[in-house]
Amino acid sequence: KPNQSHFPENFLWGGAIAANQAEGAWNEDGKGPAISDVIRNGIVGGTFDGEVIDGHYYASHEAIDFYHHYKEDIALFAEAGLKCFRTSIAWSRIFPNGDDEQPNEKGLQFYDSLFDELLKNGIEPVITISHFEIPLNLITKYGGWTNRKLIDFYERYAVTIFKRYKDKVKYWMNFNEINHFHTIPLAAGGILIQDEETKLQDIYQASHHVFVAAAKAAKHLKEIRPDAMMGAMLSLSPIYPHTCHPESVFESYQLRRRSLFYSDVMIRGTYPTYAKRIWDEHHINVQMADGDLELIKENTVDYLGFSYYRSSTHEAGMKILGNTGGIIGKDNPYLEKTDWGWPIDPLGLRYVCNELYDRYEIPLFIVENGFGGKDEFDKDGKIIDDERINYIQKHLIQLNEAIKDGCDIIGYTWWGPIDIVSAGTGEMKKRYGFIHVDKDNDGKGTLKRSKKKSFQWYQQVIKTNGQSL
Ligand code: BG6
Repeated sequence: KPNQSHFPENFLWGGAIAANQAEGAWNEDGKGPAISDVIRNGIVGGTFDGEVIDGHYYASHEAIDFYHHYKEDIALFAEAGLKCFRTSIAWSRIFPNGDDEQPNEKGLQFYDSLFDELLKNGIEPVITISHFEIPLNLITKYGGWTNRKLIDFYERYAVTIFKRYKDKVKYWMNFNEINHFHTIPLAAGGILIQDEETKLQDIYQASHHVFVAAAKAAKHLKEIRPDAMMGAMLSLSPIYPHTCHPESVFESYQLRRRSLFYSDVMIRGTYPTYAKRIWDEHHINVQMADGDLELIKENTVDYLGFSYYRSSTHEAGMKILGNTGGIIGKDNPYLEKTDWGWPIDPLGLRYVCNELYDRYEIPLFIVENGFGGKDEFDKDGKIIDDERINYIQKHLIQLNEAIKDGCDIIGYTWWGPIDIVSAGTGEMKKRYGFIHVDKDNDGKGTLKRSKKKSFQWYQQVIKTNGQSL
C-alpha cells in the first residue's frame, strides 16, 4: 500500500475501448466494411474471410452495440468519475471505402453526438485515429499500408476529423499498437503477407508509409488546433531475458528495439542508426520520396501512449510469436497468470515507465491496462471481481511508484471499462469491464449493462486521486 498518492492533480483517469470491439452497427448509416468486420475469432489472430460470408459469425457486427447504447454507457462512466475516455473513430464510418472523395456525413454526426455526450458529462475524449479497423477496400484494392497511396487516404481522413472535431477533441493518437506490424501485420497494418521471403521488406516499407502519414497528421493537427496533443501508441509490455546468458540478454534487447524502433522514429524524428544493419542484413530497400525524412523530422509526437498487460521472457533462438500485449515467450516461474495465460507483472509497469521516460523524456500515457477474465453472478445477483480489482490495484500502486521515480505520466485508461469483444480471440467471455454486458460468445444475450464490484472500487480511486489504493 502506498502511504502517499503521487498522481498529479489533473491526472487523466479513464477507460479505453476501440470502435470495432464495441460499436456494432457495422453497416449502419453508410458505414463501409472494415477488416475487423470480416475476421472471425478475433481480429488479432483469427481467420480473415476477405468478405462477409453468410452463416459465419463476426463479433464486430453487433459487438456490445455501443452505437445505440453510448448515452447509457457514458452515464455510467460519468458515475464512476472517469475524467477521460479513449475510443477510436471507425475509419470506414467516415470514409466507407477509404478512398472516397467525400466523407459520410452520418458517420461524422455519430461522433459529434458521442463527443458532445462525453463533454456534457465532463469526460475528455482521447481519440485513436486507426485501431485495427482499416476500411476493407484499402486492403483488397490497394494491399494495405505497403501501398504509398494510403498516406493520402489517411491524410484526407485525418484532416476531415481534425477540422470537424477541433473544438471537441484535444488528445489524439495516430495508430494503435503500431509496433504490432511485426507480429500481427494484417490487423495492425492491413498487410496480407503473401510471401515469408518478402515479409520484412513489406513490413518496413509499410512502416515508412505510416511514419510519413503520422507526420502529416501531426502537422495538420497543429495547424488546425495548436494546443492539441498528438500521441504515438505502442504495445510496450517488457521483454525479460529468460536467463543471464549474454546471448539471451542481447537478443532480448534486440527484440525490444524492434518495438522501440517505432517510438524512436516518431518521437526523435529520425531513423535510428541500428536500422541500417537490420535492413542490410535482410536486403531491405525502403523506398522513400523526397521530403519524407524532413517531414518526419519536423513533425514528431507530443506524448507516448502505450498498452501494458504483462511481461514476456525471451531465450536466444526461440521463435517469436505475436500476440496482443507483447510476445509469447518462455514461462516466467515468478509470475502468476490469468486464465488466458497472461503473466501478471505489476512491477513490470514501473520498469517500463522508467525505461521509456529515461529514453524519451516526453509525457507518457498508459492508454491500456486491464485484466481479462471470466465473471459470474453470485447468488445475490452480483459480480464480485476481486481478481480484477487486485490486478488493477497492484498496477496502479506501481504506477504511483513510477511517478515518484520522476516519470511524467499524464493518465491511465482502464482497458474495457465496459465488457467488449476480445481482440485476441473474438470472445465476450474474456471480460475486462467494471460494467458487465449480458452477451455470450455465441452472440446471445440481452445486452443489459450492470455494475461489478470493481465499479465502486475504481470510483473511489478516482475520487481520492489514488489515495485509496
Ligand atoms: C491490445 C489492443 O493489444 O490488447 C486491444 O489494443 C485489445 O484492441 C487488448 O483488446 C486486449 O487484448 P484482448 O485479446 O484480451 O482483447
